[in-house]
Amino acid sequence: MNTEIVKISSLDDSYAAKKLKEAGKIIRSGGLVVFPTETVYGLGGDATNPTAADKIYAAKGRPSDNPLIIHIAEPSDADKYTYTRDIYYRLAEKFMPGPITVVMPSRENVASTVRASLPTVAVRCPVNPIAHALIKESGVPIAAPSANLSGSPSPTCGKHVIDDMRGRVDMIIDGGHSDIGVESTIVKLEDDDSLTLLRPGAVTLEDLRTITDRVNVADAVLHALKEGEKVLSPGMKYKHYAPKSPLYLLDGTEDDRLKFLKEQKDNICVLCFDNEASELSGSVPKDHLFRLGRSGDELSEAHLLFYYLREADKLSPDAIYAPLPSLSGIGMALYNRMIRASAFKIVKV
Ligand code: TXA
Ligand code: MG
Repeated sequence: MNTEIVKISSLDDSYAAKKLKEAGKIIRSGGLVVFPTETVYGLGGDATNPTAADKIYAAKGRPSDNPLIIHIAEPSDADKYTYTRDIYYRLAEKFMPGPITVVMPSRENVASTVRASLPTVAVRCPVNPIAHALIKESGVPIAAPSANLSGSPSPTCGKHVIDDMRGRVDMIIDGGHSDIGVESTIVKLEDDDSLTLLRPGAVTLEDLRTITDRVNVADAVLHALKEGEKVLSPGMKYKHYAPKSPLYLLDGTEDDRLKFLKEQKDNICVLCFDNEASELSGSVPKDHLFRLGRSGDELSEAHLLFYYLREADKLSPDAIYAPLPSLSGIGMALYNRMIRASAFKIVKV
């Protein structure tokens, strides 16, 4: 398939307007468009068209029992596709448009292939202006998983989506580096109005607790699934975000991490904080050091994490090392992604 690649840096010019019109037409006629969002890039198709969902699963190489998120232009559009309740609007008022996805009972008009035949559907209203304009142009909700091939880290820049999706979709809109860099927070609305956190993201557990104190964190968010354990979200059971080289997470103080890394003899890549990079420059080649920002700046870490996992992997090292993230704030999202990316390989240093 021929993939048109379109670079859009501002919505203010006539080129962007023309291309977004074409992209909307592709979606309406059952085709696929990769588009930027504030979290990661999405691989989009018409959520009301069952064939479009089949095409998404095929382009991504994703099992069709793992449902898709539908992207809407305005929070109130959720009423057209789901049965909302008051608590949805409390979340919407505070966090939408933005990096949060809410799972609610689905109406019949959402293609059952999109929700993998579940009675619920996940909805999200992105704040990225290109994503917003594309949903408006399409005139339909857009079903979109992250635009990576199944199993690899989510793409956060044009180059990485092109690596994975060229030849598999009708159009790729390159809108530059994703602001946030990790996928949206997913919460399920329970019948008793409590929330279950299925996937942490930039809307943090602390943020959710400002809406209700009844927020449960699903077990699989912070732990490996036990043999035969029932999953609350189908995505939890798949291997995720993984680079090809083995990734190890270092659990220890900065001094202990540095000592451990300086002793390594193999060809390694290291994701580290800025101050650690200068300490390591004598022991690890410069192009194998990936600087995450200031120590403790988790927003910067989130922004760069998936990008670096892909870039480090291209050097085919014997191992990639990264610090074990904390559990507070957006750290929980980083922890959740990294324990999976590393297949739970945590090294106590
Ligand atoms: O930030 C994001 O959420 C990005 C951008 C493109 O919006 N999308 C994204 O989609 O990360 P995806 O498909 O890679 O991850 C969606 C997750 C999957 O793990 C899936 O199992 C879960 O959401 N999910 C979707 N519908 C669900 C439902 N009805 N119940 C429980 N989990 C659901
Ligand atoms: Mg994904």
